[in-house]
Amino acid sequence: MKKIKISFVGVGFMSQIAHIINYYKNKKVELYEVCDLDENLAKEVKKKFNFTGKIYKDYTKMDTKNVDGVVIIVQRQLLEKITGYFLKNNCNVFSEKPHSYSLNEYKKNKKNQKKVWLKGYVRRHDTAIKKFKKNYLIKKNNLGKLNSISYYVSSGNSYLGAKHFVNPFIKKEFKSPLSKFPKFIKKKNYKLYDIYANTALHSIDLFDFFEMKFVDILFAQIDDNNFLCNFTTLTKIQKEKILCQIFLNSSPNQLWDEKMIFMYEKGQVIIKFNSPLFKKGSHKITIFNKLKNETTNISFKNKWCFNQQTLDFVNYIEKKNYFNFNSLSGKDCIKNYENIWKFYINKKNKI
Ligand SMILES: NC(=O)c1ccc[n+]([C@@H]2O[C@H](COP(=O)([O-])OP(=O)(O)OC[C@H]3O[C@@H](n4cnc5c(N)ncnc54)[C@H](O)[C@@H]3O)[C@@H](O)[C@H]2O)c1
Repeated sequence: MKKIKISFVGVGFMSQIAHIINYYKNKKVELYEVCDLDENLAKEVKKKFNFTGKIYKDYTKMDTKNVDGVVIIVQRQLLEKITGYFLKNNCNVFSEKPHSYSLNEYKKNKKNQKKVWLKGYVRRHDTAIKKFKKNYLIKKNNLGKLNSISYYVSSGNSYLGAKHFVNPFIKKEFKSPLSKFPKFIKKKNYKLYDIYANTALHSIDLFDFFEMKFVDILFAQIDDNNFLCNFTTLTKIQKEKILCQIFLNSSPNQLWDEKMIFMYEKGQVIIKFNSPLFKKGSHKITIFNKLKNETTNISFKNKWCFNQQTLDFVNYIEKKNYFNFNSLSGKDCIKNYENIWKFYINKKNKI
């Protein structure tokens, strides 16, 4: 059987621990070309994971004709431009998140999408989350009206102590064009905008997936360690406003820790997400019924992880399943994220 040829742009830390390793183990895949500014790193990675094609420093020289999919795992500020190049060249693309810094830039890339464009932050692909939406979110839990939702992420860089990867040899110097920040973000805020784009999109995407449309941002506070935002949403199922909160914070040694609490008239539903780095394990869902004073614990084993993301990309390429996950666009995420910042900046200026 003809193997699916996958090339990589950017073979640093995340690329190796979360992506290359899963393609390497997949029998349907041939790892093809490698591109990294750090040629020594590219060489080592090619050897370690049996890439069959050439090594490049410049991604514009790569083979875009005979490759089946390109996986782009570079620093956040480079993602958008490089992704845009491969989308324009008619390639199936998987890109890490955040896939854009602004709505305008996102729209430009989206216009160029001719085949698959899968993005790397998508809990909505998680079968457990899909099941949760269908069976427990509003209709079937018998807890009455949904009053509020809180979403907490505590993130860090510990990555379960991952050690077995080839360390980059050079200091990162970006020669490539960087993604554009929205005009209303001042240079001094670029770093924070970048940090929180990386994590806020996970939660904003889930609100979107649960069909909750942001209506009104009530409060936003953003600083070096915290991102806090209160807003109201409407859902398709329940047409009244629901009060929501996203709270993000980070500390260097923290494992990714993520939780969502739904408060209903007659109880609560809590989802405790498993880390995406664990192939095994499950999300834990607790349903508390106040009237009956009853707690039900549900464990969803079939969950999204980096390996599942690899399987999805290969599967979409095989089936030429180009657009039926188009609604999972991310456009609304970026729009909402921009709006939170606009609110924060305006409010701050008024004080
Ligand atoms: N999905 C997740 O949960 C998750 C978690 C953490 C990070 N990320 C994302 O993963 C991405 C990479 O993070 P990382 O920690 O691996 O960074 P890293 O610095 O270890 O690796 C990036 C690599 O890209 C290479 N590179 C830079 N510019 C290039 C270019 N023009 N052409 C080719 N290669 C180039 C660098 O030399 C480096 O080796 C980021 O976008 C980050 O947001 C995703």
